[in-house]
Amino acid sequence: MDVQRIPAREGNYNLKDYEKTRQNFSWDEVKKNFSWNETGKVNMAYEAVDRHAADPNKKDRVALYYSSPDREEEVTFGQLSKQSNKFANVLKKYDVKKGDRVFLFMQRSPEFYNAFFGILKLGAIAGPLFEAFMEQAVRDRLQDSEASVLITTPDLLYRVPQEDLPDLKKIILVGDHNESSDKYIDYKKEMAEASAELAIEWVDLEDGMLIHYTSGSTGKPKGVYHVHNAMIQHYATAKWVLDLKDNDVYWCTADPGWVTGTSYGIFAPWLLGVSNVVRGGRFTPDDWYGTLAKYKVTVWYTAPTALRKLVSAGEEAVKRHDLSSLRHLMSVGEPLNPEVVSWGLKAFDLRIHDTWWMTETGAQLIVNFPSQEIRPGSMGKPIPGIEATIVDNEGNELPPNQMGNLAIKEGWPAMMRTIWNRPEKFESYFINGWYVSGDSAYKDEDGYFWFQGRLDDVINTSGERVGPFEVESKLIEHDAVAEAGVIGKPDPERGEIIKAFITLNDGYEKSDELLEDIRQFVKTGLAGHAAPREMEIRDSIPKTRSGKIMRRLLKSWELGLPTGDTSTLEE
Ligand code: PRX
Repeated sequence: MDVQRIPAREGNYNLKDYEKTRQNFSWDEVKKNFSWNETGKVNMAYEAVDRHAADPNKKDRVALYYSSPDREEEVTFGQLSKQSNKFANVLKKYDVKKGDRVFLFMQRSPEFYNAFFGILKLGAIAGPLFEAFMEQAVRDRLQDSEASVLITTPDLLYRVPQEDLPDLKKIILVGDHNESSDKYIDYKKEMAEASAELAIEWVDLEDGMLIHYTSGSTGKPKGVYHVHNAMIQHYATAKWVLDLKDNDVYWCTADPGWVTGTSYGIFAPWLLGVSNVVRGGRFTPDDWYGTLAKYKVTVWYTAPTALRKLVSAGEEAVKRHDLSSLRHLMSVGEPLNPEVVSWGLKAFDLRIHDTWWMTETGAQLIVNFPSQEIRPGSMGKPIPGIEATIVDNEGNELPPNQMGNLAIKEGWPAMMRTIWNRPEKFESYFINGWYVSGDSAYKDEDGYFWFQGRLDDVINTSGERVGPFEVESKLIEHDAVAEAGVIGKPDPERGEIIKAFITLNDGYEKSDELLEDIRQFVKTGLAGHAAPREMEIRDSIPKTRSGKIMRRLLKSWELGLPTGDTSTLEE
């Protein structure tokens, strides 16, 4: 078969005719699927949970198939509805109100989902943090959001710098602990006492629901602010792109600390009332194949970095498991290598559908539909209702096949509504009515989009977005480090790895121990995935005359590429 073009297969898809749907499309039609369209009563938690709990045919359906190496549990929509009511009542007791920021810093577990929907049910704003974050990362996010309540587990508590968090009033601990101060609330005890009856807070579609922090090339992580209105697009893409049907068993491997883990690990499947698999714990190929087989997963959404590891594990590993239930595969987060797509055809006899979007976009924008030809290496085409193009630096549209900045006509349902506390940052994403993504890409004559790279210095390592500034800032906190410049270096398995160039303070000698100590410092202070895999000590770091680190130049040196314009380089 020509791997340049993989035709759509015969099948009963939710989106049959892309072109026709696109032409006649209006988001108002999608809104008709929601009861609020008539009642005016809006809340994501109602649509994703309570509505199914109230439906005699869905109440006892398993919403969550949870498993981790040491725990297994099934939770029905009816149970999730009650448990999240209880959690909302716990929060209410401690004065949480609409608009308050309540953060979650814990592993995936059934308690996480109870808490998450409990927050939304009060109209409060949820902020899920990835459990791998260390002190600095937790501090930055809780300070910026002025979160008043944190839900966490006792083992992670040491990474919460409470002395630096004056707004943080209460900490809800999930799990056994010995804390006695009245700052701490015991999850188990409070849940046992809480009522399962709740008058849910009806909100406005434009009211806040979620903040996800994400990295840019400069400054601290940005709090990307999402509202309940996003559900319109989560619902639509759950049908067209995830192709979910009533009896599907769906698994999205992403952690809810990342946007994929909320938009597509929580909202999309549950808006459609589909059973959702959640697997905690670390990745191993056999474990993942085992999860697919055990729950007879039909629709699977994962990432290139995981798929590349599965490729390395070989086809034998696939054959050890019965994966016959699988019918639809998708990928997100980084470029999906054409070799992985052809491997997927061999190993699973299925096409892998690449999808493109960002934390800021809130939902999928450019995708490969089940009903369309796939051109491996391409992210596909914009979903109905989305206008995408390539623009130059002034926001002018470029013709097909010309590389530029991938841009989306502003105003889609799931678009972020602001950057928390930084409205000017939010404004800076838009030119001439286009949301400018910062990804370079081109569009071919047939309307397929092809990703080329990031235009800024943001690093994508194993699908995780890392801001070089954050890593540099941490590096220079180490006593030995004077200056630091951090870049992404291409890597076959991880996409990119983090490489740090540093200069040492007087009195420090280069040694392997010192480098390892610096690496550990970042790892334990910020996050494991933010620690440089490679480090190089230099006499100086190239900077512009205004003192900005010239990461572009470091990268050119590293890759042996021409250095381009260096006229702003400091002497
Ligand atoms: O560079 C693009 C890359 O990931 C960035 C967004 O990262 P994040 O906000 O963490 O969201 C990831 C999951 C939604 C984009 O600017 N990216 C995302 N999807 C793809 C991709 N790069 C290539 N191909 C994709 N399909």
